[in-house]
Amino acid sequence: MDYLWIRGGRPLAGEIVCQGAKNSVLPLLAGAIVFRQGCRIHNCPQLTDVEAALAILTRLGCRVRRTGGTVEVDPTGLTGNRIPRALMGAMRSSVLFLGPLLARTGSCCLCQPGGCPLGSRPIDLHLLGLQALGAEVERAEGWLYCRGKLRGAAITLPFPSVGATENLILAALGAEGTTTIYNAAREPEVADLIAMLSAGGANIAGGGSAMLQITGGLPQWAEYRVMPDRMAAATYLCAAAGTGGELRLLEAEPRHLQPVLQALTAAGCTISPGAGELHLKAPARLKAVSPVRTAPYPGFPTDAQAPLMAALARSRGVTVFEENVFASRYGHVPALQAMGANIRTAGAVAALTGVPELHGAQVEATDLRGGAAMVIAALQARGISRIGGLAHLNRGYADFPRQLELLGGDVKLERRGLPDELGRTEPA
Ligand code: EPZ
Repeated sequence: MDYLWIRGGRPLAGEIVCQGAKNSVLPLLAGAIVFRQGCRIHNCPQLTDVEAALAILTRLGCRVRRTGGTVEVDPTGLTGNRIPRALMGAMRSSVLFLGPLLARTGSCCLCQPGGCPLGSRPIDLHLLGLQALGAEVERAEGWLYCRGKLRGAAITLPFPSVGATENLILAALGAEGTTTIYNAAREPEVADLIAMLSAGGANIAGGGSAMLQITGGLPQWAEYRVMPDRMAAATYLCAAAGTGGELRLLEAEPRHLQPVLQALTAAGCTISPGAGELHLKAPARLKAVSPVRTAPYPGFPTDAQAPLMAALARSRGVTVFEENVFASRYGHVPALQAMGANIRTAGAVAALTGVPELHGAQVEATDLRGGAAMVIAALQARGISRIGGLAHLNRGYADFPRQLELLGGDVKLERRGLPDELGRTEPA
């Protein structure tokens, strides 16, 4: 297992470029299957989740070529429709291959996807929508078999699920007739997927709104650039804010981050959004902010809850968090408490009382954004921290240690040589 050693107490300062969005590139790569000729995608971040998506495409018979930040996918050789358990378990986004495979081949076989342990993460909304489109779904020995000739339908999602919206958009392109999705997710990553599909000739109306209309018909070919990663941006902004530092973030999109920018401004930061970039200057010590309630876009993003909590760990006052999107998303709290943070949780609520100082500790990430929160706390803490479970961080942050070093962080990566798997713990 690798470890990140961090000596805290130094304000971060400097300029970095925001990576391409993990939560956009993954649906785009799954969506590559529905293009008749294929697609070329730029600004793909170097992440293990992207590698897993490329491995699934290759396993399904697509030709995949990666040159730096550009990935080309040629799905004309698609032969498979079954995704191996190991690849399904690598990430949540493996479920996003369900819709495109049904659209392209009329059948698909997969098992429960992996992903961050944030409480139960069923896929019932995905299946509800696919069945409305005419797919038959059977479960046997832990496998899910889906098949059928898809027909356009009107689907109302009980919850604006991001993944279910993306899966249903892709499936609907293979359906006969028009599909309308009500209460669709409005996250920018959904709009990014719609933009790439439309660039290939797909007919999709309502991108960015809660009502989408998809006319059946597969797109041809598109070349597309992934949007900036708003959660990576939120993470680096919170790291600079928590350490009393200053950050210029290039290739960021301020309008995707309004609730986070509002919270950091309320905490005392000066934020100047520019054209495609963000500049933040933080005071030595932040102020507590009014309750942070996570919600589907355009509400406060659940993925920024843990990073903001860590940034506010040394703030003056009490900040209340309410996690309304996932059943259990305070896995990072024990580690922050081990560093001296004063946090009390009760169900969906967490009350953070800022303390004057944090101290180093040995902790282990249990999920992607929780791991980022541990890094943000360690960067503020007096003394040295050791952070394990880096496989979680490598799923969503490209070159994380290097980016923090560029900002002046005293960060060292210790490679223990053994490849780390998600969730594997050191032998006793
Ligand atoms: C996407 O996950 C993101 N992942 C998540 O980011 C993000 O937190 C989430 O959207 C919400 O914005 C990717 O895009 C790869 P959901 P997804 O379906 O699609 C429940 C990160 O850190 N639900 O909107 O899985 C579900 O349990 C990750 O980058 C059902 O009950 O999110 C959750 O409570 C973490 N049944 C809520 O809806 C379903 O069929 C939101 O899930 C689907 C979802």
